[in-house]
Amino acid sequence: MTVLVLGATGKTGRPVVDALVARGVQVRAASRNPAVATAGVEPVRFDWADRSTWAAALHGIDTMYVVGPYTVPGEPHLVGHLLAAAAHVRRVVLLSVLGVDQLPDAIPMAAWEADVRASGKEWTILRPNWFQQNFGEGFAASLRENGELALPAAEAVVGFVDTRDIAEVAVAALTEEGHAGLVHIITGPEALTLRQVIHALGEAAGRELRYTALTAAQFADGLRKAGLDERSINWQLGLFRLIRDGGNAVVTDTVERITGHPGRTLKSYAGEIAAIWG
Ligand SMILES: NC(=O)c1ccc[n+]([C@@H]2O[C@H](COP(=O)([O-])OP(=O)(O)OC[C@H]3O[C@@H](n4cnc5c(N)ncnc54)[C@H](OP(=O)(O)O)[C@@H]3O)[C@@H](O)[C@H]2O)c1
Repeated sequence: MTVLVLGATGKTGRPVVDALVARGVQVRAASRNPAVATAGVEPVRFDWADRSTWAAALHGIDTMYVVGPYTVPGEPHLVGHLLAAAAHVRRVVLLSVLGVDQLPDAIPMAAWEADVRASGKEWTILRPNWFQQNFGEGFAASLRENGELALPAAEAVVGFVDTRDIAEVAVAALTEEGHAGLVHIITGPEALTLRQVIHALGEAAGRELRYTALTAAQFADGLRKAGLDERSINWQLGLFRLIRDGGNAVVTDTVERITGHPGRTLKSYAGEIAAIWG
């Protein structure tokens, strides 16, 4: 069995590759910039925006983990096109997002989910809450350089989840029976405000870090000044509106039920990354 992992260099793709290798499963790791081969991992160049790269990635595999084409605007049904090109693939696990039904139409995950459900394959959909790993990756520069994270999340709580837990659920769905036709809502073990998260990160690092609550208009202005296009700005605004409306306060027992261990806490992740704020 070889599992194709799309988005293999990303926050969920990396731990999915690691967890598959740990189970002795052969992996084809897809990215626009494939790494060098390692034991059990065959890198392949794959670009959602370049269909000439699809066939080599799909050749001879029967199971795939899909991080969708969120970087390719204006083509909501690319996932459906890929699945049609993957007639021989039997099982697909799709990374979607918590609250998919309440997000604006500009966000394409609902279309991806529809395409996966209509594919005739054994499908499982993962709807995770916000990733803890955002703090150690995308948000890290602002925290490191300014000691501050400014976002329009008010004081709403979010069930931040460790992407290694998402990966373990994904690998169960990829390699075990009993997940076909299921939607797994995946969260961390507790719901925290951004203020609580930033405080925990600062405490672990021995450094003062601040959270500043922006209005949506202030946030949009900042993104515009940074050169972001209107589609991406609306996408971000939609995600933060859902947080402020309480849509990300969700905490489920999915991780513990499927992996047998409780979800990793934000405090534990904060300890692991304490050195990066140095
Ligand atoms: N971040 C969160 O808190 C969160 C929460 C819930 C759901 N999600 C969902 O998770 C997904 C990933 O989001 P993320 O921002 O956290 O990113 P990420 O998984 O850290 O990185 C994105 C991955 O997608 C790959 N990729 C990007 N554009 C590609 C293209 N045109 N063709 C092929 N591969 C491409 C990247 O690989 P290369 O750059 O190496 O090609 C990378 O491996 C999104 O669908 C998002 O909605 C995120």
